[in-house]
Amino acid sequence: MTMKVKYLGHSCFLINGELLIDPFISGNPKCPFDPSEIKCKIICVTHDHSDHLGDAFDIAANTGATVVAIHEVAQEALSRGLNAEGMNIGGEISVGEWKIKMVLALHSSNLGHPAGFVLEKDGKRIYHAGDTGLFGDMKLIGEDGLDLALLPIGDRYTMGTKDAIKAVEFLNPKMVIPMHYGTFPIINQSADEFKKEFELKFPGKVIKVLEIGEEVDF
Ligand code: NI
Ligand code: MN
Repeated sequence: MTMKVKYLGHSCFLINGELLIDPFISGNPKCPFDPSEIKCKIICVTHDHSDHLGDAFDIAANTGATVVAIHEVAQEALSRGLNAEGMNIGGEISVGEWKIKMVLALHSSNLGHPAGFVLEKDGKRIYHAGDTGLFGDMKLIGEDGLDLALLPIGDRYTMGTKDAIKAVEFLNPKMVIPMHYGTFPIINQSADEFKKEFELKFPGKVIKVLEIGEEVDF
């Protein structure tokens, strides 16, 4: 079954109009959306840095969506009276029709540990890497097949172009969408170099560089 992924800027995506990841919306100078307009059932948060946790708690309060996050961040959501499912790296849970697995991310955070997610529904598997450096176990994450990988390329705080290309090699996804670039002057301003390298190296794979607000099928 075809799915839709909509880019809301930075590392934020809305999948099939129901699963939102890392909703950095009101604080993102490049994002034109109003968090109060966003509807979703599930909000996955990779870590509690403000450019990822973002508006997650407000959107959860408005919509009743379930926040899915590392135990410590989920506890914070629960303490605010929100719906939340806490988990930890290596665990998999079901939320509605989605299977959500939390995987490693090499990064830092204030609460708990940073993470990535493997999201599965209707036979489609999506990997959102969160903020991370390159790590060899991405090979394991890709072993069962990935339809889509959402990968940071902005450098300084995460992988840059070169390591993100290596990550594609490890993960072997059918399609890649780059993220976490161009939001601030301090991270790379464009995905041009990544796209160029990607197309040279992976002629059979699809790369989509999305404008904020753009939606694609996969
Ligand atoms: Ni971060
Ligand atoms: Mn970040």
